[in-house]
Parts: sequence; C-alpha cells; structure tokens
Amino acid sequence: MYIRDLSLLNFKNFEETELAFSPKLNCFIGNNGVGKTNLLDAVYYLSFCKSFLNSIEAENIRHGEEFLAIQGVYVRNDQEEVIHCGLKKGQSKQFKRNKKEYSKLADHIGLLPLVMVSPSDISLILGGSEERRKFMDSVISQYDRKYLDVLLRYNRALLQRNNLLKNFAQIQRFDYGMLEAWDDQLIVLGKEINVKRAEFIQKLLPVFQKFYELVSQGHEIVELVYESALNDHDFQELIREALPRDRAAQHTTVGIHKDDLHFKLGDYPMKKLGSQGQKKTYLVALKLAQFDFICKISGLKPILLLDDIFDKLDSIRVEQIIKLVSEEHFGQIFITDTNREHLDHIIVSAGADYKIFHIEDGQVAEIRGSEKEVVL
Ligand SMILES: Nc1ncnc2c1ncn2[C@@H]1O[C@H](COP(=O)(O)OP(=O)(O)O)[C@@H](O)[C@H]1O
Ligand SMILES: [Mg+2]
Repeated sequence: MYIRDLSLLNFKNFEETELAFSPKLNCFIGNNGVGKTNLLDAVYYLSFCKSFLNSIEAENIRHGEEFLAIQGVYVRNDQEEVIHCGLKKGQSKQFKRNKKEYSKLADHIGLLPLVMVSPSDISLILGGSEERRKFMDSVISQYDRKYLDVLLRYNRALLQRNNLLKNFAQIQRFDYGMLEAWDDQLIVLGKEINVKRAEFIQKLLPVFQKFYELVSQGHEIVELVYESALNDHDFQELIREALPRDRAAQHTTVGIHKDDLHFKLGDYPMKKLGSQGQKKTYLVALKLAQFDFICKISGLKPILLLDDIFDKLDSIRVEQIIKLVSEEHFGQIFITDTNREHLDHIIVSAGADYKIFHIEDGQVAEIRGSEKEVVL
C-alpha cells in the first residue's frame, strides 16, 4: 500500500502543492521550519483523520485562510483509493473515500495503516501515563475495528459515573442504584480493553526487543511492562472496594483509564536512567515493532514516516537504522533531514526507487537529473 499523489490547499504553511511520490523511498530535505514535518503530518492526517501535532483543527488551516483541503491518491491491494479531507473554519471536517463521505471517522481508521517516528515521541517516555495509553489505543485500533468503539463507550460511561459522583457530593445524597448502572458497563468494557491491551503488549515485546538489540548492537536489555490494576484483580471487586475513595475524590479512581506502560532499561526506568540516545533508540525500536505488528495483522505494509530520526544518535546506531529500513521488509518510507548526508547513505543502501524533494518556505521542488545522483 502506498500514497501515489498528494495535493494540499492551505494546509499549514503550504498554499497549493501537488506531489507525486515514489512507492518506495521519499526524502524531504530543507532547513528548520520550512515545512518538512508539516508534509509528513498531511500524510498522517489522511490515515488518522487528524493532525499528529495539532489537536486544535483550525490551527491546521494556513494563517489568514478560511479552509483547507488535503487529498491523497493511494494504491491499496492494486486498487486506487482517493481520500479527501476538507475543513472550513467553524465547521466540522469532511472526510471522503472515493467521493463518498464517511458518516463516522472511526470507520476510516485502519484503512491506510501508518507508523510515524517523530521527535515528539519522547513524550511517551517523559510524559504522563495518558501518553502511553494513547500509544496502545492508537495501535490496537488500527487493526481491531471493535476496540475504538469499546474504548469510546468506556469513556462515556466513565464520564457519566464521574458526573454522578460529583453530583452526589453537591446535593449530599447518595444513590447506589444509579451508580451501579454505570459500574456494570465499566466492568464489562474495561475487562475487554484490559485483555486486548495485555495481548498487544505481550506480542509486541519480543519484536520490540529484537529491534532494540539490532539498533543498539546488543549491549542493553530493555523491557516493556503493561501495568493495570485489572491484571490480577477482578474489576468488579476493585470498583466496589474503591467506592469510599471514589466518593471522597468525586471521580472514579480505578479502571483501565489508570493503566500505564513501564519502560525499563535493565532493572531501572528508562525515563530516569536512559541517555538521550538510548531513549531515542527505545522509541525507534518501539515504532518499528509497531510496524511489524500492524503488518502481520493487517497484511498491509504501513507507510513509515521517519521525522528527524538521526538526531542524537551515534554513528553506529544511525548505520543500523539505515540498514534496517533499507530492507525489503518495509514498504513506502518518508524521511526528513536537514542535510543530504544521511539520506544519501540510505538511498545507496536501499538501492531502490527513490525521490528527493527540496523544501523551502512552503515550496516543494523535486530534485531531478544530475543533482539527484548520490555521490558518497
Ligand atoms: N496554520 C499555519 N499557517 C501557516 N504556517 C504554519 C501553520 N502552522 C505551522 N506553520 C509554520 O510551519 C513551520 C514549521 O514547519 P515544520 O514542518 O515543523 O518545519 P520543519 O521543516 O523544521 O519540519 C513554522 O514556520 C510555522 O510557522
Ligand atoms: Mg521538523
């Protein structure tokens, strides 16, 4: 599966741009702030119906403009798929597959699998547990159509239960019967989510460790542990035991919304002990494992977006990553860098079809002819 053409209208710093990509390797070169990450974000948008970076939709519209449009033409299982997104300020966005508008955006997720490796992934290690839950949820919902729905229903029930707890505190009256209706939903949905998250991490772990070993050349041992109160306790009992605490706190203190992933380097937390390069290696390995995982389950090779991945890595690790992504194993790759050196190495070792694009202030030019040739 790959994206063949991309057209942008007023997406971030791009006014009007049309690009035709290589099915294999596409390199974006340019100085800081010219729009390399924004281009990757446009491709990300077409897979996930949202920006990787901006949760505020209107911020994706080019400053001073009223609307944006992103269109991608894909080749998927030998069929052409035209995906179109349009967004006007103050209106909800439109998402179309082959001219037919989706009634639910969730129906689109998973159609065009994609894995992005970005400098902002560091928040997975440094940020709060919500980041790590989002990571699990976004990967699982790419291959399990039911998961997202179950998660949304859990979150709705949780919100209702929390509102009730607040309300009871305000009116100083407590009605267990009303609360119980939400408990029942949380218990069923929460257990399902817990099982799926546990299965996912169990399968991801060996692949992740293999990639980490390959990139780091086997000097370090890493672990990834799924932590959930539901792992070894019955959710029904947990919720019952937590009731006095929940009433005092006026929100639900136990459930899969408290789950976390523990990232370890040897016996210690990666967050505290890992160097910048080790953290980066950890994240690259995690994302490549995610790639393998989605690939196996969906039968499609996800599009791989590699944003600034070489920054802060030593030359051995850079070399290993280059070797890895050059393998036939991966499908279409997009890669950004501020200079050509790393990219030329990749191009040479990949020996595959490639295109290079030079970006300057929202203008993209494909480099062709003799300038495109790699001289190392
Ligand atoms: N809505 C927008 N309208 C215009 N420019 C934008 C918008 N959103 C982001 N930008 C610009 O995009 C640039 C950052 O682009 P980015 O893709 O992160 O650069 P890089 O090439 O370093 O990856 C900034 O100059 C920022 O001002
Ligand atoms: Mg960038």
